[in-house]
Amino acid sequence: MTHPANMSVSPPTNTIDHSAAIKLQVEGLRKTYGPIVALDSVDLKMVEGEFLTLLGPSGSGKSTLLWAVAGLNNPDSGRIWLDGREATYAPPQERDIGMVFQNYALFPHLSIAENVAFPLKMRRKSGTDIGAAVKNALNTVQLSHVGDRFPAELSGGQQQRIALARAMVYEPSVILMDEPLGALDKKLRDHLQIEIKELHERLGVTILYVTHDQEEALVMSDRICLMKDARIEQIGTSDEIYRRPRTHFAADFLGESNILPIESDGAGVGRLSTGEVVRFDAGLAPEGPLSLMIRPDAVRILDVGAGSEGLDCVMAKIESRIMAGAITKLFATLSDGTRFQANLLTGSTHAGVAPGVSVILGWSSDAAVPLLRESA
Ligand SMILES: Nc1ncnc2c1ncn2[C@@H]1O[C@H](COP(=O)(O)OP(=O)(O)OP(=O)(O)O)[C@@H](O)[C@H]1O
Ligand SMILES: [Mg+2]
Repeated sequence: MTHPANMSVSPPTNTIDHSAAIKLQVEGLRKTYGPIVALDSVDLKMVEGEFLTLLGPSGSGKSTLLWAVAGLNNPDSGRIWLDGREATYAPPQERDIGMVFQNYALFPHLSIAENVAFPLKMRRKSGTDIGAAVKNALNTVQLSHVGDRFPAELSGGQQQRIALARAMVYEPSVILMDEPLGALDKKLRDHLQIEIKELHERLGVTILYVTHDQEEALVMSDRICLMKDARIEQIGTSDEIYRRPRTHFAADFLGESNILPIESDGAGVGRLSTGEVVRFDAGLAPEGPLSLMIRPDAVRILDVGAGSEGLDCVMAKIESRIMAGAITKLFATLSDGTRFQANLLTGSTHAGVAPGVSVILGWSSDAAVPLLRESA
């Protein structure tokens, strides 16, 4: 299926600190498996110390890209540089890279200390150096007491921390992580997300991280690289990519969204199918028929008769309301039946807002993002 947005949306931006050294650069990378194109024309730059997350649906090429950077697969064309040196076909052990996978991949017959020591032994370090480095790495992941145990004697979360210790032990300047928390339950995942982020800050290491969980990507990353069908759809900071998605796909993948077709001459004012007038930043508008994207968390209920407070508004009828912890979700329909969602803080004053009730919903025009319209 062709993607109409590809034709007129400007290419992904790389808003990075240009004063920092480029740690990793990927240019025009392509990788096929027989007839399957797993990566196509991928360009990416990471600066020293950055935490960049590859986010995207299953099969979009995230692991293929990570493996190419690690030297675990050979690209068909394109180039990879590490620290300014070309490394496209360099063997993995010649790259200054540590790797953590989803399923721990610890050696079951080696003790925890031996597992962590393994990369150092491969690099023929001396016994005393190895002892000190292993101790240090186990301390870093707060598991200094389990060195004598075997992997099967640890919980999933502990095993994953050991896998992390093993990836860090020889102090690589880049660590690649492929869904390292994918096999863990939510609570442990939340906890380890924070731990990995703290480690990143403390060690200043460059991390290229893979997940298909948008929340995890938003929480952890300096920048997110959104992938779709073997290509990069958009790159930006968490905030940019959440608040300023450039396509329907990006808007959808990064969270909940209302996407409404509008009639507009592109000058920053448009009309919804219900006739209501809405405003947006004309500078963001691509050429062509437009839709307007509004995040449900940017929407408020306005008091009838209190005026619009400078917000753009629609009349809506509440269809259902769902309390989801800190947030209460309101599912409504506009006057022509179009569905519209608002997320409010649970406990904010909206007691009378029940199914069947009509309300005025409003949002600031800053929160409205014009996108090239796609058929639903
Ligand atoms: N060794 C292989 N042989 C054949 N096809 C492969 C191979 N590895 C990956 N592919 C294909 O390449 C495409 C990209 O796969 P990749 O593993 O990079 O996706 P992914 O984004 O990591 O997905 P997931 O979230 O499921 O891990 C997919 O269509 C996949 O089926
Ligand atoms: Mg994968």
